[in-house]
Amino acid sequence: MTLIKWDDSFSVKVAEIDKQHQKLISMINELNDAMKQGKGNDVLGKIINELINYTVFHFSTEEKYFDQFGYPGKASHKNEHAAFVKKVSEFKDKFEKAEVGLSIEVMNFLKDWLKNHIKVTDMKYSQFFNEHGLK
Ligand code: FEO
Repeated sequence: MTLIKWDDSFSVKVAEIDKQHQKLISMINELNDAMKQGKGNDVLGKIINELINYTVFHFSTEEKYFDQFGYPGKASHKNEHAAFVKKVSEFKDKFEKAEVGLSIEVMNFLKDWLKNHIKVTDMKYSQFFNEHGLK
């Protein structure tokens, strides 16, 4: 079952960023499917690593434009990014040491965080980016 389904309510009206968000959603769905199919920790660990790497890449894309355009909300937005990377990295470390497993609770956290972050926090830069010519 698909955990998150992309629709227009996720669109920040910037093609490059919408594409990255779609990729993040598909990676979370892939992780959820792998967990449900009972895949081993080696497979799950690989997907978690890919998800973290792509998340860091995605955040750096947004932050590059914040700096380039002087986005007023950049400090609090960057803090949200940093807190998420820290939290997921801590989870990954514990997962790799087999102290915790991937669970429905973890998947729900990832899903809810991403949905909320895109639809609330990211959405705030949509018009600002468009006004700076980014579409
Ligand atoms: Fe799309 Fe602020 O992450």
